[in-house]
Amino acid sequence: MTRILAFETSCDETAVAIVRDGGEIEANVIASQTDLHARYGGVMPEQASRAHLRAIVPALEEAFAQAHANWDGIDAIAVTHGPGLAGALLVGVNVAKGLALVRRKPLVGINHLEGHVYANWLDVERAPAFPLVGLIVSGGHSDLVLADGHGQYRRLGRTRDDAAGEAFDKVARMLGLGFPGGPLIERAAMDGDPARFKFPRAWLEDGSWDFSFSGLKTAVLHEVRRFDGLELPVADLAASFQAAVVDVLATKASRAAHDFGASRLALGGGVAANRTLLRVVEERAQLPVVCPPPRLCTDNAAMIAAAGYFRFRAGQRSDLALDVEPNLPIA
Ligand code: KG4
Ligand code: ZN
Repeated sequence: MTRILAFETSCDETAVAIVRDGGEIEANVIASQTDLHARYGGVMPEQASRAHLRAIVPALEEAFAQAHANWDGIDAIAVTHGPGLAGALLVGVNVAKGLALVRRKPLVGINHLEGHVYANWLDVERAPAFPLVGLIVSGGHSDLVLADGHGQYRRLGRTRDDAAGEAFDKVARMLGLGFPGGPLIERAAMDGDPARFKFPRAWLEDGSWDFSFSGLKTAVLHEVRRFDGLELPVADLAASFQAAVVDVLATKASRAAHDFGASRLALGGGVAANRTLLRVVEERAQLPVVCPPPRLCTDNAAMIAAAGYFRFRAGQRSDLALDVEPNLPIA
């Protein structure tokens, strides 16, 4: 039995988790800063790192309480060291390094994007299988990756401009819906007609696995401006925008899974919480699709513990020189 304690502070959630054997969640504490940042309509980096500082020790104590565990039961510490906001990552990395030193525990640095893929190992009866194609769609990233085994990734494509979640957040702001935009657009879209507005899909050149969402965002803005002074058809705009994002993500991900002979298509990241995305991916993919429940799609530390378990088991260790890497790619 191996128990990993994990920290995640790459953006606006201060998260601490304890996970057994890479899959069984014993504690999953998420101190969200959403209310703090909603006032500004986006994440304020300075405020985020100060909030992490305040929240991280209480979150650690709560995690131990939830798991009915103490330091004796912890085999290793995993921590997100990138990608993300430098000042936010610094809090988690330094707390993890300090504790690893004082408590004499092995330390494993984890890539946040890898964590999003490993959310698919949490609380499931049957773990995903390799090779898998992963669609990682969050506020900062839209990556399509091929994984041949634990820790063996090849990035097939990425966004060339806005991340999918970023597009949701910006369009939500145009529609006056608030922050974070993803869940609000999804809810508004439920009453809308996805075919009313024909928004562009950026397929890019033949054979490219990259994404682009800035043209779509601009198209929504133009449409919004045409309603100048009139009541905005928010539900139809939200549904038509969401349909365009989902169309491109689902088409490219299921095609990549097919072309690369994957045995699983795995979704992850905040945008994977979108149930329309999951439904359309399942319709189009000709292979089993795995997707975490919404609460494990968005940022959490349990996914970092799951990724940490497999790296720890493979003998990987970080030393106290582990540093934050704000632009760390997945491969
Ligand atoms: O993975 P995540 O929690 O943080 C980052 O690593 O960025 O992703 C947050 C992003 C935000 O842009 C948010 O609007 C989006 O995920 N999101 C959603 C939904 N829930 C969160 N996008 C679409 N539909 C959702 N239900
Ligand atoms: Zn994330």
